[in-house]
Amino acid sequence: MEISKSLCFFLLLLLLLLFFVDEARSDAINGDSEKLHRLLHLQKLPWKQQEEAVVNCIFQKPRVREGITTLEMKERDYCSGKVTDWQNNLQNRLIFDAIRLQSLQSRIKSAIFSGDTHQISDSQIPLSSGTRLQTLNYIVTVALGGRDSTLIVDTGSDLTWVQCRPCRLCYNQQEPLFDPSNSSSFLSLSCNSPTCLALPPATGNSGLCGNGNSSSCGYEINYGDGSYSRGELGFERLNLGEIVIDNFIFGCGRNNKGLFGGASGLMGLGRSKLSLVSQTSSVFDGIFSYCLPSTGAGASGSLTMGGGDFSNYRNVSPISYTRMVSNPQMPNFYFLNLTGITIGGVNLGVPNNGALSLIDSGTVITRLTPSIYRAFKAEFEKQFSGFQTAPGFSILNTCFNLTGFKEVNIPTVKFFFEGNAEMTVDVEGVFYFVKSDASQICLAFASLGYEDQSMIIGNYQQKNQRVVYNSKESTVGFAAEPCGF
Ligand SMILES: *[C@@H]1O[C@H](CO)[C@@H](O)[C@H](O)[C@H]1NC(C)=O
Ligand SMILES: *[C@@H]1O[C@H](CO)[C@@H](O)[C@H](O)[C@H]1NC(C)=O
Ligand SMILES: *[C@@H]1O[C@H](CO)[C@@H](O)[C@H](O)[C@H]1NC(C)=O
Ligand SMILES: *[C@@H]1O[C@H](CO)[C@@H](O)[C@H](O)[C@H]1NC(C)=O
Repeated sequence: MEISKSLCFFLLLLLLLLFFVDEARSDAINGDSEKLHRLLHLQKLPWKQQEEAVVNCIFQKPRVREGITTLEMKERDYCSGKVTDWQNNLQNRLIFDAIRLQSLQSRIKSAIFSGDTHQISDSQIPLSSGTRLQTLNYIVTVALGGRDSTLIVDTGSDLTWVQCRPCRLCYNQQEPLFDPSNSSSFLSLSCNSPTCLALPPATGNSGLCGNGNSSSCGYEINYGDGSYSRGELGFERLNLGEIVIDNFIFGCGRNNKGLFGGASGLMGLGRSKLSLVSQTSSVFDGIFSYCLPSTGAGASGSLTMGGGDFSNYRNVSPISYTRMVSNPQMPNFYFLNLTGITIGGVNLGVPNNGALSLIDSGTVITRLTPSIYRAFKAEFEKQFSGFQTAPGFSILNTCFNLTGFKEVNIPTVKFFFEGNAEMTVDVEGVFYFVKSDASQICLAFASLGYEDQSMIIGNYQQKNQRVVYNSKESTVGFAAEPCGF
């Protein structure tokens, strides 16, 4: 009797232990990189939890440690007003993303076919369009000339600009306009200066002298859909936390139009000389990294400038690096050599010699070539079987009706890059929620129109990753990290 009692107790203990070990395993979301399936909790989605969440748009103070600055990063939507209609918000973002892709691909194409690298390359805060900016979702706050400026973060463009007083045409922004006449650290850039003469490729406009002001260095950036920023270039003191960058070249925008959604301007983190990364390379060594938070009003991520000291990151898997592949036609974009994609451990047919792919902070949905997408869809449907399918929406055509499910087990998606680097897509980066009641949940991957187009790794798949850009060594690194600040 005694023995069987203690045996029972022992077995119970063992069971409990096993249960907890199992729980711990499924909770260490990205830690176990070999896991072929991951659990997605449908009840934990933001619209289930906090329809009336108060949006906190006050940024915490930057953290500075050993010359590395970390800025808190938030999703723009939640700072430009409460999201009252989730469904509309989710759907609009997709439509804008499709338009953005067209302008991006046509730019890549024209760059490749024109052979005129000078004109298209470095240039133009470019290609972007107001429609694109709708999808550029992440913002940080820096101090320019001693005043807080909340900027949209973009790895796909170079010039940093803010709206400037006196303003001929400015959209509504939340912070007061930047006023150069009120800043003792502001210096106008003369249009005859060597710096200005060297800039046309970075601004996409050659008629720099003029603009009714013959002495200042004008810039003009036109976007595909009619959005633009125009003004003069100037020098100003930029504070990234306690780190001071004197004579930072930026655009003082006197005439700006587009869907910039309450932000004071844009931060360009591309590869050209004019980008913030290049201008601060003596301080940060050309290294920056980000962690893009998952969707939700309270979610925070981080943008870190500099990177020698990895203890700033909270990555839960080792950082694996791949080479930035230079594309002479588009030198200011970050291209990588994608060598493989797996779903639940099953390899899809990425060509043996790899595929040139763009990694972008501004595109939402990852785009695959038609043949790879077809394989992706087929394999995913095979492994994620037994669920009711749902109609497609916009660019997404692999959809399910998961109404009524509390959680689902979904196959793990991994990307591999040259040099054995890998990126495991976070469990929240696999499905896009077209309908907030889960009756239309789609694979957050889409097909390109043609086999010869460049694949794009979108920001939806980069959530909860530490993505490290090292311009000095020309590498990009990935590690799983539950984002926070
Ligand atoms: C100029 O700066 C001072 C001190 O920073 C401030 O009090 C004043 O409001 C500013 N004026 C304008 C027009 O921005
Ligand atoms: C022209 O540039 C000067 C500084 O070089 C500036 O003070 C002035 O406001 C500018 N005028 C216009 C119309 O932009
Ligand atoms: C991409 O990587 C593969 C495998 O390492 C290699 O064979 C191929 O040459 C690379 N492609 C480019 C464009 O560097
Ligand atoms: C989704 O599934 C639920 C439960 O099976 C069902 O009641 C509902 O009608 C479905 N919705 C759509 C749009 O198919």
